[in-house]
Amino acid sequence: MSVMKKLEVGILGATGMVGQRLASLLENHPWFDLRWLGASDRSSGKKYAEACNWRLGDAMPAGARSLLVNDCVPDGKAPQLLFASLDSKVAGEVEGAFARSGHAVVSNSSYYRMERDVPLVIPEVNPGHLALVRAQRRERGWSGMIVTNPNCTTVGLVMSLAPLDRTFGLAKVMMTSMQAVSGAGYPGVPTLDILGNVIPYIGGEEEKVEAETRKLLGSLDADSSHDGHVKSGEFAVSAHCNRVLVEDGHTETVSVALRSKATPGEVLAAWQEFQAPSEVRSLPSAPRRPIVIRGEADRPQPKFDVNTEHGMAAVVGRLRPCPVLDYKYVVLSHNTIRGAAGAALLNAELMKAGGYLD
Ligand SMILES: NC(=O)c1ccc[n+]([C@@H]2O[C@H](COP(=O)([O-])OP(=O)(O)OC[C@H]3O[C@@H](n4cnc5c(N)ncnc54)[C@H](OP(=O)(O)O)[C@@H]3O)[C@@H](O)[C@H]2O)c1
Repeated sequence: MSVMKKLEVGILGATGMVGQRLASLLENHPWFDLRWLGASDRSSGKKYAEACNWRLGDAMPAGARSLLVNDCVPDGKAPQLLFASLDSKVAGEVEGAFARSGHAVVSNSSYYRMERDVPLVIPEVNPGHLALVRAQRRERGWSGMIVTNPNCTTVGLVMSLAPLDRTFGLAKVMMTSMQAVSGAGYPGVPTLDILGNVIPYIGGEEEKVEAETRKLLGSLDADSSHDGHVKSGEFAVSAHCNRVLVEDGHTETVSVALRSKATPGEVLAAWQEFQAPSEVRSLPSAPRRPIVIRGEADRPQPKFDVNTEHGMAAVVGRLRPCPVLDYKYVVLSHNTIRGAAGAALLNAELMKAGGYLD
């Protein structure tokens, strides 16, 4: 049997919370080989082990420790495929510069997500939206491309909504989040702001969740190869986003109104039977069960459930009738894995399997 040569990859923003997760998930990856790191001028020129304040429980991958951190400028030395987890203030400019210079940038940042010609993808939900890159490259004249994954709060919500939308149709969605502090990057929220407290405001988050959810569950225009366009889902979304003192894992309480009547058993069956398309199921980072249902009255909880399916599942529970809309439930997902690094990795695997990196 022939052994596939691994594709060299790099990380823009390698020293941050998401960059560290990416480095960790790329260790021993069957398809990708981490060979290049980039960050700000605070870090460039140093070895990763010196530049990076490693905050994950697992040790820094041995292969990354001695890699030099580079400036995030396209000087021809970075690999074709780059994962991007840059500070949002610089992501637009830096990612655009790399895509123009021929790199495939798989981005965690919000900067390009809602652009008409930029795919916003959850492989289990809308893998076909990747086709937008053809229009993107033609219209922008880029030899590279940008593909994005959603905001960390959007991803669990959309994974839980996708089977309901397909089976019954969505009319209205109300979501209240309890978001982990790691979602704010490192060092993140000051202790005195969050200790014993709930912060009922995360700048821009509610607008992102509302718009991204409708784009992800939207349909790709049949003519997309010509003008590239996703028609957003025709349902209303209202999001309340809160920061709470949890390390990892965004917990969300959701109420939905459905377009057709459903019994609780039918809603549970829609979640239970939800599967990614076969081309996605075979990807190395795809969770065996994208949606995991907890039957206990007090689950999911981030403390116990955040690492379900290696942090790649949306964990749902507490399904019950809603006196205002039709049903309400809880969904939990890991914000730096499923909501960021793992999502980008799965997108890159989908791109590789689909021939977008050839
Ligand atoms: N944390 C999450 O749960 C999460 C989830 C989804 C999406 N995201 C998004 O992912 C991105 C990264 O988030 P994070 O939480 O990892 O943030 P972070 O911990 O603050 O890390 C930011 C990274 O950007 C680099 N950087 C800052 N300024 C730069 C510059 N001028 N040029 C080049 N690199 C620069 C930093 O390098 P230095 O260390 O050298 O400063 C660091 O590597 C953000 O766009 C965020 O919105 C985060």
